[in-house]
Amino acid sequence: MANGKQGRDPAFGLDMDFNEALERFAGADIRDLEETPIEGTATPFVKWAGGKRSIINELVDNLPSEFGDYYEPFVGGGALFFHLQSQLKKAYLSDINIDLIFAYAVIKKDPLALIEILRKHKEKHNPDYYYRVRKKHDLEDTIEVAARFLYMNKTCFNGLYRVNKSGEFNVPVGKYKNPNIVQEKNIPLCNQVLQKAEITYQKYTKIQPKSGDFVYFDPPYHPLNSTSFTSYTKFDFTEQNQIELRDFALSLHKKGVLVMLSNSNTEFIRDLYKGSPFSVRIVHAPRPVNCKASGRNNVEEVLITTYG
Ligand SMILES: C[S@@+](CC[C@H](N)C(=O)[O-])C[C@H]1O[C@@H](n2cnc3c(N)ncnc32)[C@H](O)[C@@H]1O
Repeated sequence: MANGKQGRDPAFGLDMDFNEALERFAGADIRDLEETPIEGTATPFVKWAGGKRSIINELVDNLPSEFGDYYEPFVGGGALFFHLQSQLKKAYLSDINIDLIFAYAVIKKDPLALIEILRKHKEKHNPDYYYRVRKKHDLEDTIEVAARFLYMNKTCFNGLYRVNKSGEFNVPVGKYKNPNIVQEKNIPLCNQVLQKAEITYQKYTKIQPKSGDFVYFDPPYHPLNSTSFTSYTKFDFTEQNQIELRDFALSLHKKGVLVMLSNSNTEFIRDLYKGSPFSVRIVHAPRPVNCKASGRNNVEEVLITTYG
């Protein structure tokens, strides 16, 4: 599947191996992009940069002991939601990536129709077909939109999501021997779990948790370096956006909402969350030992909570 030899694609304007750049600049662990099937359990149905599987145990260890509803307003692949699935009563999942939100909504409502279209994509899959599907920016049927998104997520270069200024997906095809395009078992399992979720296309500021609810914020990370792959839509998440997010987290805390947030371990982020009510822990996201980019086997992230 994903391996360093796929890199140096001129489409990205990079002068280094793509996986190397992803690790170095986004702190993203490419192993997080792979779906690991667990028999009988729904797992994230998209590969998503910034996925939280490598620090999932740290997240679980730092959950509040009790909470009401669960909110994940930067849901992406939803690694924590899927991990907690059986423990949650009601979940509110949202994101501003509209194709992603269509995929969640369609899996919740119409998984079999989706699987049928995915089977057709699988039959026809080759690089020419991929580029023909990629051009179809104006599909109107939501099931077709979701199927196109999932097909390309599983077959594009490293499961990356990038769009041009007009919001058109522009990632080149990847080189996989046997991409998991259909997810025959996982999609029905995700469908069951998503029955307890409300899925919304919206900015994170629109959520309305009440006292005792729990919100996990996993925003695009503050870049470790000026070159970054932390953009998931045509909008970037700037330092000003990080400040607004901190202020929003504070306002929720004042209402009695329990907040957890992850980000990169940069000076800017540590300064932003210095002092009460925030507790900041440094967590280590494991990386492949032979990672050429960093020469070390883990990357530091911060986990911030507003409770003890
Ligand atoms: C780091 S990823 C989340 C990864 C996710 N936790 C996982 O496990 O895959 C950040 C997500 O935030 C979304 N996003 C960016 N800006 C946003 C905003 N203003 N409001 C809501 N979602 C936003 C992106 O589309 C992306 O899916």
